[in-house]
Amino acid sequence: MIVFDKVCFSYGVRQIIKDLSFSINSDERVAILGGSGEGKTTILKLIMGLIKPDSGKIIIDGEDITGKTEDELREVRMKFSLVFQEGALFDSLNVKENVAFCLREYTKMTEDEIDRKVRELLRTVGVEHAMEFMPEELSGGMHRRVSIARSLAACEPMMFLYDEPTSGLDPVNADNICKLILELSKDGKGFIIVTHKVVDALRVASRFIFLKDGELVFDGDSEKLLHSDIPDIQVFISELNYAGVKNV
Ligand SMILES: Nc1ncnc2c1ncn2[C@@H]1O[C@H](COP(=O)(O)OP(=O)(O)OP(=O)(O)O)[C@@H](O)[C@H]1O
Ligand SMILES: [Mg+2]
Repeated sequence: MIVFDKVCFSYGVRQIIKDLSFSINSDERVAILGGSGEGKTTILKLIMGLIKPDSGKIIIDGEDITGKTEDELREVRMKFSLVFQEGALFDSLNVKENVAFCLREYTKMTEDEIDRKVRELLRTVGVEHAMEFMPEELSGGMHRRVSIARSLAACEPMMFLYDEPTSGLDPVNADNICKLILELSKDGKGFIIVTHKVVDALRVASRFIFLKDGELVFDGDSEKLLHSDIPDIQVFISELNYAGVKNV
């Protein structure tokens, strides 16, 4: 379980997160929505202990992580599989080596075992055929898939964290990533997806959190979201009218 208890966070003098409180169970499928620069990626970084709050508590699995050392935080990070907004593949390594890198780093597997595991992970995300490709040769969708395989190689996560996994993708590729996200959480592993694409959020999540000016202004299910009278949410939802899926 992830608990934010009155969390505040600033970059320099700019306060990004204000008194944010919520709790998320590890089997929940949650979408964090909000405009650009509202602090969505910042929340994922706080969960991973990559940055520390100015005040408030962040409790992961019953433990307050705000006072933990780097060594202790490593254990916390292993509970999550984070797929970064930018994909974060190494440009100089091919697909296979990008995924193998994590296995070499985090496990004591032999080269044969690593080879088998890399193939299995790439098969899971549907890009086994691109094993020898360099990152620059991948399409946006393939890049995301390899990033997901890479994060799966890093640990057996309790929960997945996806930062804008479908942004910049065409609708078919975005839909494929949504399917992969659902597939990976089939056995009850939850996720937090950070996105500004409501269509994709509705496709995968059952709980929606909306951020505005660093504060939580909405927390509820899809029905409540679609009928919200909060103007910013209505603007986000108007995207659905164009997509013709508002009432499905
Ligand atoms: N390392 C940093 N140093 C200073 N300011 C930062 C840093 N990282 C982010 N910010 C600022 O913090 C705010 C929140 O950033 P964040 O990346 O969390 O936004 P976001 O909601 O993920 O936006 P987007 O939808 O564009 O990804 C932004 O105004 C951004 O300019
Ligand atoms: Mg972001």
